[in-house]
Amino acid sequence: MKIGVFDSGLGGLVIAKALIEALPQYDYVYYGDTMHLPYGEKTSGRILAYTLDAIRFLIEQDCGLIIIACNTATAVALRYLQKRFCPKFAPNVKILGVIIPTVEVALEDAHHAIGVVATPATTRSDIYAVELKKIKPDLNVLTLATPTLVPAIEKGDFELAEKEIKQYSEKLKHLQTLILGCTHYPIVKDLFQKYLPYTHVVAQDDLMGDKLTNYLKRHNEIETKLSRKGTRQFIVSQMSDGYNQVAQKLFPNIQLKLF
Ligand code: DGL
Repeated sequence: MKIGVFDSGLGGLVIAKALIEALPQYDYVYYGDTMHLPYGEKTSGRILAYTLDAIRFLIEQDCGLIIIACNTATAVALRYLQKRFCPKFAPNVKILGVIIPTVEVALEDAHHAIGVVATPATTRSDIYAVELKKIKPDLNVLTLATPTLVPAIEKGDFELAEKEIKQYSEKLKHLQTLILGCTHYPIVKDLFQKYLPYTHVVAQDDLMGDKLTNYLKRHNEIETKLSRKGTRQFIVSQMSDGYNQVAQKLFPNIQLKLF
């Protein structure tokens, strides 16, 4: 059984890299649904349908543990996948998301006010505020949709990304802690930190490696089923030169394959 990592595009490669660095012994299949990116602008119905297709594909690739490295897909589809899809169609498959681990880490030092930047769909779901307040009901949560960032990052246009971050930062300056609630944003976390020097910026690439390591320590029944040949496959639903360039920056000898 391999570990599957799914994202709407290439942003999730940052998470895949963190997981692979923490746990290099396992076999990984990354799937980026570049054909349907951005998910963050789509209806919940579409996001759920695309996510289901991606999960079925990863299961066909022999993935028994799947990390949805996409906040938008986690916000919209994870609950359905865990409660309905897996028990009925894939009882031996475990699917995890990125939101709960992020909330746990962010709450370690957030006392009064916390911000979340995310796609419009994640913002609409209100999932971060709900999960944060389950643990800390008196917390002030500001969730800001930052829709222009994903397209700029996917294209590798970091000048544009910086301009956008500078503007968004005006609304976030008072915050003690800021969650980058989109898997594309760790790529520009230094820019967020540049414009928010006094804010603790929580980026998912810094936490997912430890979180998965701990999870596997606690779930021996899954860990023992994982194969350990150290193989990696990177698959996308649509290819472009720009995608290859973005991917090469994270994994120098990467070979993106088309599904
Ligand atoms: N990767 C997605 C997320 O984490 C954002 C990209 C998209 O809009 O497809 O929310």
